[in-house]
Order: sequence, then structure tokens, then C-alpha cells
Amino acid sequence: MPQQVILRDAMRRLNLTRDGLSQRLGVTRRALDSWMLPDHSTEMRKMPDIARRFILELLKGLAPAPQSVEQQPANSERAHHLLSVDGYTRDSVEDLLRVADIMQPIARRQKTTRVLDGAVLANLFFEASTRTRLSFSAAFARLGGSVCDTTGFTFSSMAKGESIQDTSRVISGYADAIVVRHPELGAVAEFAQATHVPVINAGDGPGEHPSQALLDLYTIQREFSRFSKLIDGARIVFVGDLKYGRTVHSLSKLLALYRNLRLTFVSPESLMMPSALIEKLAGQGHHIEQTQDLAQALAGADVVYATRIQKERFAQEETLEGYSADFQINSAVVNRYCGADTLIMHPLPRDSRPGANDLSVDLNRDSRLAIFKQTDNGVAVRMAIFATLLGVQDQVPHSLREVGWRVPVYLAPEDEVPYSDQ
Ligand code: NCD
Repeated sequence: MPQQVILRDAMRRLNLTRDGLSQRLGVTRRALDSWMLPDHSTEMRKMPDIARRFILELLKGLAPAPQSVEQQPANSERAHHLLSVDGYTRDSVEDLLRVADIMQPIARRQKTTRVLDGAVLANLFFEASTRTRLSFSAAFARLGGSVCDTTGFTFSSMAKGESIQDTSRVISGYADAIVVRHPELGAVAEFAQATHVPVINAGDGPGEHPSQALLDLYTIQREFSRFSKLIDGARIVFVGDLKYGRTVHSLSKLLALYRNLRLTFVSPESLMMPSALIEKLAGQGHHIEQTQDLAQALAGADVVYATRIQKERFAQEETLEGYSADFQINSAVVNRYCGADTLIMHPLPRDSRPGANDLSVDLNRDSRLAIFKQTDNGVAVRMAIFATLLGVQDQVPHSLREVGWRVPVYLAPEDEVPYSDQ
């Protein structure tokens, strides 16, 4: 197992920050940082065997992580789907994040694998999508599988009146995993009931978006690690369309698996979080605030998670055209109210049209902006989801090969902003 994966796993399972782990190991923080750098970094150092053995000894004393419903082997009798984040425990979600760490060198094109050679993914998107559809495809392809897909109702037989159940049964004969996005709440669960092939919910109307929440959580944990912060006790601010924003619904539930969070929800009155969800989160012992005062909410925030107005989900009587400027996350408010280690996140797409007042492009070169770390991490996390659902996660470390083509050092000009990737 690569040393970076062992170290991240140790921090998760022992609930230690980098400072905490370096103290436990009796090494400097600098030494630990150098062990966690990716293999291709010139600053990366090999962890001494004695440290590796000591960590494995520490982990041996802990109970094994229980498996959630989603993570049982694919060949056991029931079909296993990823429809909501509800099936996760803190241990099982962290187990998935560990698998995502193993996938990172493949997602970043330093290694290749063929563990899903011969497998076929069906990607069914009945609603607009760029990153979710393409990153699920890329994730499956990078595991060695192939992808077939359909987009929109117009070009599918649902336009001819075919039921969800019939479509589901038909696709089950073609594919080994099915990703579905649908505009109606609960439609993906209905689809899953008609098949034993694993189904992943890529967004069901205003309901859930579990893979996005997993990649958001993974990004938060990785970025917190650079600042030696834990998720326990963090202060997270959600801003925007919290009524229809399914990514916020799923992410807030996943975060609630941690302890003692301060969750602040900032939105116009008409776009507040569903009250049942607020009650659930409060019932889990977190401190919850709902407000329209962005400035007051941002002070002391560890994460600011902005969202787009989901106009396409509005009922006829709902009319909001865009946020008032009071809800916009831009460099002026971030510089005024946020600290140097605040993470600025957004599930994307951001609405860049005039008057939308969505997350501003004036933050593009601000190192606190994590939006492209989210999208990059999405590939590793979706690879982890497929590998666990199809039961090949343990084969991955032994299957790695070198990449045979040329990969750019930086994927885009903005990545060249000084940032140490640990
Ligand atoms: C989100 C979605 O579709 O729910 N996008 C995504 O998948 N990253 C958010 C949105 O559409 O605003």
C-alpha cells in the first residue's frame, strides 16, 4: 500500500491532524509532509520502515471498519445501489475515502489500471449535466471499463411513453453498472427497484446527489489536512438555493456523521433548507443557524459552500430571477470576512450571467478557491464508488502500470498559482 494512503488512513481512523500524527510518530511536521507528497514530487521522501510498522501496529488495535449497505461485495444476493448518503456511517464513508486515495495516481494520470476490463457502464442522464456525466464516464474508463450513454428524454424511448421499470430492465441486460440522473424526486430509486445491477443516483430532482457529497467531503478532508484541521468542530456555511440544492442536502447529511459541527445556512427566505432536514441535523447534536446575514455568517467559517439558483426546479409561482448582491460570494466579502485557511467551494456549474450573483470569477486566482480541486477529486471518488460497488477495490494496488502518454504538469494556467499539493 502506498505510504500516502497509509498516512491518510491513519489520520482518519485515529482522528488526528497532521500535527497530531507527527507528534504521535515522534517526527517533525515537515518530515510527515514530505512523506505525504505525491510520488512524482521532487520533495517527496520515503517513510522509514519503522514508522510504517508503528502505524500499522496502531491501526491493528482499532476495530475493523463496518461495511455500509453500499459497500458489500457486489456478488452477494441483494442488489447494491448508491441512492442516498443515508446508508453511510462515519467508518464506512471514511473507508470509501481511503479507496479514493488509492485511486488518486490513476485519476491524475500517473498510473493506469484495467481492473474493470470488459465491464460496461450505462450513463443515463435525463437532465442537463457536464461534469457529473463526464466524470462518471472518465472514472469507469480509467478503471478499464467502457461506457455507453443516453442524454435527455428526447432521444430515449421514455419520449415514446416507456416506463422507468421497462427502461431499467432493458438496460440491465446491457450494463454492469448504471448511473441515472432524473428531474423527479425518487425516480432513480424507482429505477433501482427494477434491477439487480448496481444503480448510482447522479441527482434526482431536488432530492439527493450522493457522489457529489462524497467528493465534497473528500475535498474538505484533504484540504483540512493541509491546515492540520479536523472536520469535527468545523464551521461550515452553505449559501444560496438551499431548498432545491440537492448537493447541499446530501453533503449536510454526510457532514452530520462528524461531531459538534456549526452549520450555518444563508439563503433568501423563499429558498431555505427543507425544515425536516434542519430538524434531523439539529437532532444529531450540531449547532444550526439559518440567516440572511452573509457577513455575520462568514466570520470564522472553515468552509463556504456556495450554490446556484436552481431555477429549473421552481414552481410556476416562484419567480426569483437571481440572488440580490447581498448573497454573492466574491473577493470583497471573502477578503473582508474570511480567514487565510477558509475553503471556498461550489458544486458547479456557477451561473456567470450578469445579475445571477453566483460565486464570482474574481476569486479565480485565490488559493482558497477549491472548485477545481472538487472537480478533479470527483474522478478519484467516482472510481472508488465503482470499484467498491463492483468488488474490485482490493485488486487495484496490484494492478498499476505506468502511463504511456504525455500528461501536462499543470492542467490549467490557474493551477500554477503556488499551492503545495499534499
Ligand atoms: C449540481 C447538480 O446537478 O445538482 N451540479 C453538479 O452535479 N455538480 C448543482 C447544480 O446544478 O447547480
